[in-house]
Amino acid sequence: MGRLKVGVLISGRGSNMAALANACAAPDFPAEIALVLSDIPGAGGLEIAAGRGLATATVDRKAYGSKADFEAAIDAALHGAGVELICLAGFMRVLSADFVGRWHDRILNIHPSLLPAFPGLHTHERALAAGVKVAGCTVHIVRPVVDDGPILLQAAVPVLDGDDAASLAARILAEEHRCYPTALRWMAEGRVRIDGARVRIDGASPAAGALRNPL
Ligand code: GRF
Repeated sequence: MGRLKVGVLISGRGSNMAALANACAAPDFPAEIALVLSDIPGAGGLEIAAGRGLATATVDRKAYGSKADFEAAIDAALHGAGVELICLAGFMRVLSADFVGRWHDRILNIHPSLLPAFPGLHTHERALAAGVKVAGCTVHIVRPVVDDGPILLQAAVPVLDGDDAASLAARILAEEHRCYPTALRWMAEGRVRIDGARVRIDGASPAAGALRNPL
């Protein structure tokens, strides 16, 4: 069986895209990146992707008169590259319900919080302001509501007394780079069973123990 063809949508630096590309570079990884697409011309991640020999495209929202036309161009680029699964990786546009419906259960997103806490922007600042002791990241299937959808995988990290948004973001980002390739592997291996809001991963083991913070 061929490897699952993935389209990665970015708007910025593309570190999660790079983590996915690293995983896909292993010959036995069950997915490959068919296209890296940015809505922002010159996004840092485009250069990283091109440097790795990946196909890239830019679909600039400003070049389209309507959201529908913009999304049609994205759709065409993805289909043109043979994409079967989309990974949103710091893609800063909200996709319409139409688009999400056309790719039902075939769009993943990574978000730097333990959803459903702190959806949307300024996640780390809000987590610190709320005084949470544990933060983390979430990989989920995309539904039309922003940062909502069945959760495949979450990783938790402690919030430290001296944290600011940057230090907390860095600790979470390291986990993002581990979680996203893992979730992509599960999707590509056909091990993901979606039942309403709940997801079961065939053959995955539950984590042992708990993260308590502080001790
Ligand atoms: C990540 O924190 C991701 O969780 C969020 O946007 C950020 C993108 O960073 N959705 P990068 O472009 O992958 O480095």
